[in-house]
Amino acid sequence: MHWPKGVDGLSYGGDYNPEQWPEETWDDDVMLMREAGVNLVSVGVFSWARLEPRPGEYDFGWLDTVLGKLHAGGIGVNLATPTASPPPWFTLAHPDALNTRPDGVRQVHGSRDTYDVCAPAYREASRAIAATLAERYADHPALAMWHVHNEYGSATYSAHAEQAFRLWLQAKYETIDALNDAWWGSFWSQHYSEWEQILAPRATQYLANPAHELDFKRFTSDAMLEHYKEQRDLLRAANPDVPITTNFVFGQWVPVDPWKWASEVDLVAFDSYPSAPDERAEQQSALHADLSRSWAGGGDWLLMEQAAASLHSHDGAIAKAPGRMARHSMIHISRGSKGAMFFQWRAGRGGAEQWHSALLPHAGKHTRMFREVAEFGNTLPGIAHTVADPVETDVAILWSPDSWWATAGKHLPAPVDYLENVAQIHRVLRDRGVIADFVAPEGDLSKYTTVIAPTTYVLSQAGAENLRWFTAGGGRLVASYLTGAVDENCQVWLDGYLGGMTDLFGIRVTEHLPQPAGEPRALWNFGAAERFCELVELRGAQCVTQYASGDVIENQPAVTVNPFGEGEAWYVSCKLVDEAWDRLFEELKLSGPGRPGLDVVDRGPWRFIINHTEKEEQVGNVIVPAGSWAVDKKR
Ligand code: GAL
Repeated sequence: MHWPKGVDGLSYGGDYNPEQWPEETWDDDVMLMREAGVNLVSVGVFSWARLEPRPGEYDFGWLDTVLGKLHAGGIGVNLATPTASPPPWFTLAHPDALNTRPDGVRQVHGSRDTYDVCAPAYREASRAIAATLAERYADHPALAMWHVHNEYGSATYSAHAEQAFRLWLQAKYETIDALNDAWWGSFWSQHYSEWEQILAPRATQYLANPAHELDFKRFTSDAMLEHYKEQRDLLRAANPDVPITTNFVFGQWVPVDPWKWASEVDLVAFDSYPSAPDERAEQQSALHADLSRSWAGGGDWLLMEQAAASLHSHDGAIAKAPGRMARHSMIHISRGSKGAMFFQWRAGRGGAEQWHSALLPHAGKHTRMFREVAEFGNTLPGIAHTVADPVETDVAILWSPDSWWATAGKHLPAPVDYLENVAQIHRVLRDRGVIADFVAPEGDLSKYTTVIAPTTYVLSQAGAENLRWFTAGGGRLVASYLTGAVDENCQVWLDGYLGGMTDLFGIRVTEHLPQPAGEPRALWNFGAAERFCELVELRGAQCVTQYASGDVIENQPAVTVNPFGEGEAWYVSCKLVDEAWDRLFEELKLSGPGRPGLDVVDRGPWRFIINHTEKEEQVGNVIVPAGSWAVDKKR
């Protein structure tokens, strides 16, 4: 039960908000959806105030009508529980259920996501609205899937959170002394003598305790997961045949550990909003897709949201060129998504997202955008049979939420951009035509021949043992700087860092030597390092290349390799530039059929080719026009 019930082939559609529009538009919507090849829409995502205008007083009339019309039109419904936006009456009645920022300011309603997952009143109200929806719609013929909440991620530092955090800590550490040990409590007089003294890591005078902050992120992920599971269980009890999901959002600020969550959803769903203004947007899309597939254990997942017409660059939206929406969708589909969904179906007339692009623009169906949307949507049924086989690869990159969160700390030896380091490996591999999976440091590595650990800063004993076992058994491990610098409590791995695995790597890292920004350090015959370098002492490993210059590091090992058991462990003691990683992957003979600007993904007998370049490209016998894509039999 992993797939929207009753929706054949690939899903195509998006968030549909009929409650924002007069009833006269609804028939038009269904007609145009059919014209565009839409077969699944997400309904009700933020509609709590319209479903329950006053406490306990429901208005389901509009939803009944909409679901009826969609069903008659053959369009499946991904029905949301509306808990990401509690109504104004609720927050006025329960101000303590609003979320509190780290600076202690309690937010007010007026936007969305103003909720506190730890507030009892919010939990109760969430269960009540989910149960009411379940009772009414669980057997509705239009219901294809449940969409719980929206993009969990809004953390809260409230008194409720604090209380729940203490209980979470008690369950984890059992004694206050164990917590003090784990958090290195003697530093700056942070030793606690009672659980009640522990606060949420709100704004404090200077640097906060990194172990405290990391535990709070983990706690928040678990607290949100509890909120999700309460709703899921109610929905499941009402009809066990309807799959249940929630849409993951991506960002360092998001306190959700997808490895823990993935097993609790029937289908991993992901919202992909690339932010790069250039061709890195394709790179980001591929990264999102490979992460999502990996969270889904290599199986199907669903791209739940993307923007039809623009990229979400940090400097504002940038229009997607014709065909780019389809290419982005195909990046996801080729890498495991069973469809392409969008935010949103009809562009909003008012409200904060009135300028967000949509499948159906403000100007209506006689637009370039809608024509493109309909053309792509009507192509999908013809390729649905090509996605039956899994995406296969024997290369994995470690994805460590703990490392992402912990490297946000301002106290590191030098700033570390964990996501960029992961993305860099993924980018260089993609340009070499290699598809990579992601795996948790403690995850199952058995199907991989090469595992790359980019700056896996937090490495637990279990993670370290996993990597040791992988390498001893014949795997090729490649780790980059700061990997295994600290353990799961953010305490330094003594005597050489590396998660205590100095024997595995055949080296000790003895010093961190950050270099001035903008002054790259050349490596002999190997490109260069930027910003972060480490001093490495050989203890049996072979030196692959050395630093050509730099105080202390000149002529010291920069990249090393050590045979271990049946395998070998490579270590990169610096932040390499892309060309240097490319050089290293050349050495490791990692390459595939794709090339820069050209995604090639093989699945069973089928080959997906996506040409992002401005010229025609040929792969085997297949010619793909500029800016276009093809699926063909592998020959
Ligand atoms: C998503 C969200 C949608 C919409 C979209 C705009 O993060 O789930 O509701 O706000 O962003 O890009």
